[in-house]
Amino acid sequence: MERTLAIIKPDAVEKQFAGPIIQRIEAAGFRIRAMRRVHLSKAEAEGFYAVHRERPFFASLTAFMSSGPAVVMVLEADGAIRKWRDLMGATDPSKAPAGSIRADFGSNIERNATHGSDAPETAAFETGYFFAGVDLV
Ligand code: CMP
Repeated sequence: MERTLAIIKPDAVEKQFAGPIIQRIEAAGFRIRAMRRVHLSKAEAEGFYAVHRERPFFASLTAFMSSGPAVVMVLEADGAIRKWRDLMGATDPSKAPAGSIRADFGSNIERNATHGSDAPETAAFETGYFFAGVDLV
């Protein structure tokens, strides 16, 4: 079994899409091993997205991610990293397949409703950023 970090971003939480998104996650067969509502500070968002610090969208992304509450989760399934990325669809909602989470709930490439880890190393860093081992139940 593999684990990945999922975030329901502030745009989707504000629009009350957390419920429908969690429903899709469970319907797809993931087990939710941890879940928490967080309101990140700018510094916490910068720490989470540190790998993107040289990118032109870094300041805007971290301002958005600290603009309101988000929901962070650890999802478990066979091939959880790929499976969650497939369920979300492409980063840019306009390029995500019809019926995917980002196509249905995202607005644009920044306000794209959800985040998912992209590799086992980032999944380990990202789950550890929000949860201790004792929180995974
Ligand atoms: P996420 O999967 O959370 O990882 C990095 C985020 O940066 C991405 O989703 C987008 O929300 C955001 N972002 C903003 N602009 C861009 C861009 N031009 N290319 C990629 N990601 C972007």
